Amino acid sequence: MARWSYTVRTVIHAWIFVSVTSDICPYKECQCVEGLIECEDLNLKSMPTLVVNKVSFAPYLALSRNSITSVPDGSLPSGLGGVDFEGNPLTDIGQQVFVGSSDTLTTLKFSNVNLSEFPFALLYLGNLQHLSIKDSQIQQWDISVWASLGNTLKDVTLVNVGITNWPDWIPVLPLLTSLEFSSAIVSIPDDAFRTQAQNMLSLTLRNVTMTSTSSIFSILPALTDLILDNNKISQLTGLPNFGRLTYLSLENNSIANTSHLTDALRPVQNSLRSLYMDGNKLTIFPDLLFMTSLDTIHLSNNLIDNGNTGAIPTSVSFLALENNRLTTLVSFLEMGTKLDTLQLHSNMLAELAGTDYPANVFEIDVSLNLLSRVTESCFPQNSKLETLRLDLNPISTVSVSAFGSLVNLRYLSMTNTRIRRLPVSMASLSNLITIDFRGNGNLVCTCSEYILRLWYSSNGVDCSGTCGLTSIDFFLRDLSAACPS
Ligand SMILES: *[C@@H]1O[C@H](CO)[C@@H](O)[C@H](O)[C@H]1NC(C)=O
Ligand SMILES: *[C@@H]1O[C@H](CO)[C@@H](O)[C@H](O)[C@H]1NC(C)=O
Ligand SMILES: *[C@@H]1O[C@H](CO)[C@@H](O)[C@H](O)[C@H]1NC(C)=O
Ligand SMILES: *[C@@H]1O[C@H](CO)[C@@H](O)[C@H](O)[C@H]1NC(C)=O
Repeated sequence: MARWSYTVRTVIHAWIFVSVTSDICPYKECQCVEGLIECEDLNLKSMPTLVVNKVSFAPYLALSRNSITSVPDGSLPSGLGGVDFEGNPLTDIGQQVFVGSSDTLTTLKFSNVNLSEFPFALLYLGNLQHLSIKDSQIQQWDISVWASLGNTLKDVTLVNVGITNWPDWIPVLPLLTSLEFSSAIVSIPDDAFRTQAQNMLSLTLRNVTMTSTSSIFSILPALTDLILDNNKISQLTGLPNFGRLTYLSLENNSIANTSHLTDALRPVQNSLRSLYMDGNKLTIFPDLLFMTSLDTIHLSNNLIDNGNTGAIPTSVSFLALENNRLTTLVSFLEMGTKLDTLQLHSNMLAELAGTDYPANVFEIDVSLNLLSRVTESCFPQNSKLETLRLDLNPISTVSVSAFGSLVNLRYLSMTNTRIRRLPVSMASLSNLITIDFRGNGNLVCTCSEYILRLWYSSNGVDCSGTCGLTSIDFFLRDLSAACPS
């Protein structure tokens, strides 16, 4: 589908344009915007029609999600900066196809390709820095192609590429600063990253069936991000102790021993800012007071049932503990004076005590716990709370002064509880914008809650939910007018 008609005028115009700047869309079927040749989702079964064979300013060619199987020689213009072939079942790539972009092409992405060999065409790329290959069962990875790319390659992503033994070509990529690798590997040698030791900044080894970190990472002084999700790690040792590691993710592993975890974190105690430990087997909240920079802790989907041990350091602002077995918050939040977000969805808390968490918290989610009462003692004095989620608790009582300290509250949800009356205490929520009261099947609205009428209309609150068949909004806005004042 041509975007221009071939009148003499446009042809001449296009010719002038090409000869001056080459700044014309090189493919008939595609759209061009600055720096980008857009050919995604066009149902192409073969490469689009090339109308200009040279482009300037190294544009990025996006061919993702078509059904192209063959990229023959001469089907790409010269001077490309990047090509995204993701989602095309390529079976054949011409050996000379990248020749015209050998100095300019820095980024290349493939997925779902049907190639038995790592394409030789890549040998001609003299400036490739970012390479991503996903969901492609390539059997042969020619080390000489990798060695040639190793002169420039900085960033490699290999996800589900059918590799089962740790690749012997990783060492020929000495400039790598970032590697994402995800394929079930028999084992990873301790010196796997010996040639990148000085350069490696970010390493992701996901789904590689690793059980122990051994000393693989201890030789990487520059490493800032280490992501080891979806493995079977129970032994965490040899984290790099060079003061750089800020981000550590160990989601979905088998770490059960809390004192082993805290020992393992000592080398990164002053650098680590984010710790992701969701989906492990911890039963005790760890004592993390020795960590000096920690800001974010994720410990959801563990088996933590004991709130009487452990501690978070003062620096922490975000703590997620969803889906554990906590019955109490006593003690471990005590030092967390900077804590602003606390996620406790799906635990076994029967009480929430305002003395158990700091007044700084502005968002708290205690949905799906065992709270039966909400009283003023649930919230700290001078609370900064702005968002409060109490959904799916067996709450039957909300005391008259329950929300007295929540002058900053903007969002309240109390869906699927057992409350029978609208909490009149809401009248003290002078900054509330939204209330969600849906799913409260026992709720009836009566003239005893008449006091809420003025509050509701003067604050312009948005309320969802019903009492019986009547919407709460309709009751507070209209029906309550008939109540004796
Ligand atoms: C992959 O290529 C082979 C031939 O090289 C072919 O027989 C097979 O059908 C292709 N698979 C897919 C999913 O296209
Ligand atoms: C991890 O491995 C499992 C099983 O082999 C697979 O189903 C899953 O898609 C993989 N995930 C990733 C992100 O590679
Ligand atoms: C961990 O496992 C859960 C449950 O299977 C899954 O939802 C989550 O995406 C996984 N996390 C990562 C980082 O893959
Ligand atoms: C837990 O880790 C500590 C410290 O590494 C170790 O002394 C202890 O034996 C471990 N406990 C179990 C049950 O493995």
